[in-house]
Amino acid sequence: MSRQQATAFAPASVGNVAIGFDILGFSVDALGDRVTVRRTPVPGVTIKAITGVAGELPLEAARNTAGQALLAMYEALAPGFGLEMTIEKGIPLGSGLGGSAASAVGAVVAANALLDTPRSLLELLQFAMQGEAVASGSLHVDNIAPSLYGGLVLTVGIDHPRVKQIPVPPGVQAVIVHPHMFLGTREARAILNKSVALSDFVWQTANLAGFISGCYTNDLDLVRASFEDVVIEPQRQALIPGFGAVRAAAMEAGALGCSISGAGPTMFAWSRAASAGAVRAAMVAAFEAREITTDHWVVDIANRGARIEAA
Ligand code: HSE
Repeated sequence: MSRQQATAFAPASVGNVAIGFDILGFSVDALGDRVTVRRTPVPGVTIKAITGVAGELPLEAARNTAGQALLAMYEALAPGFGLEMTIEKGIPLGSGLGGSAASAVGAVVAANALLDTPRSLLELLQFAMQGEAVASGSLHVDNIAPSLYGGLVLTVGIDHPRVKQIPVPPGVQAVIVHPHMFLGTREARAILNKSVALSDFVWQTANLAGFISGCYTNDLDLVRASFEDVVIEPQRQALIPGFGAVRAAAMEAGALGCSISGAGPTMFAWSRAASAGAVRAAMVAAFEAREITTDHWVVDIANRGARIEAA
C-alpha cells in the first residue's frame, strides 16, 4: 500500500564555507528542520502549520521556501494527489545556518517518500533550489546540497548541477557560534560588489583550490593557509558586531580557520578536535565581551544528509 505520510529531518548547514561563495557548504546535524508531508485529495500544495523557532513565516505555498520547493516538485511530477505539509522549524530565521534550505530539503525528501517511484537526490536538489530562490532572491545551492547529501559538499553549475562530497580530514571538527541577532540573506547579498579585483580573484581561486586539495590529502597546513575569504568576508564583516575580535580569538585558540556562516551572523571555525573546546570558548567569550549572547556547538562534519524519520 502506498505511504500516506512521511516526516523528514533536514540538517542545518554552513554555506558558504568561507572561500566557496555560493558553491561550498557543510551540514550541521546538531540542529535542523522537520517536515511532514501527507497525501491529500485536495489538489496542489498546502501548508497546514509552521511551528518551532519560526517567527512569522508565510503559509501561502508560493511565498514559502518549502512550499515553493514542493510546488516545483508537484508541477514537474503531477503525482495524482495533493500534498499537505507541516513544518517544525529547528533553525532560527536569519541565522546564517541554512534554515530556508533545510525546510525546502525536508519538504522534497518527505514528499519523495510518498511517491511510488522515488526520484534521485539530484532531482530533489533541483526542486529544493526553487524554494531557496524565494528566501534569498537568487538560486544558490551551498546550503541545499549539504543539507540534502550531508558532509562537506561542492556544487558545480546551476542549470545542470554536479554535486561532489569532499572528504573532511580525520580529526577535524567544526565550531558553530550563533549570536542572538537576525541578519537577512537578501540584505547581506545586496551589499556585495558585483565586480571583483583581478588580484582578489586570483587569491580567492588559489584559496579554494588549496582548501579542497588540503581536504583530499589531509594536509591541515594547506587547509589553514587557504582558509581565507578575501572577497565576501571583508564586505560583510561590518554586519556582525565583534566579528574581528571573534575571529582573532578563534585563531589564537588554535583554529584552522574562522569565518562567517552563510550570510551571517553565525560564525564558524574548523579546528583539530583537541582544540575545538578552546576555540568555542574563545569565540563565545569574544561575543560576550560585547554583551552578545550566543548558542554554540562543536560538531563532527558528519556525512549524513536529510533522512526520513521512523513513523
Ligand atoms: N551563499 C549564500 C550567501 C548563503 O552567502 O549569501 C546564504 O543563504
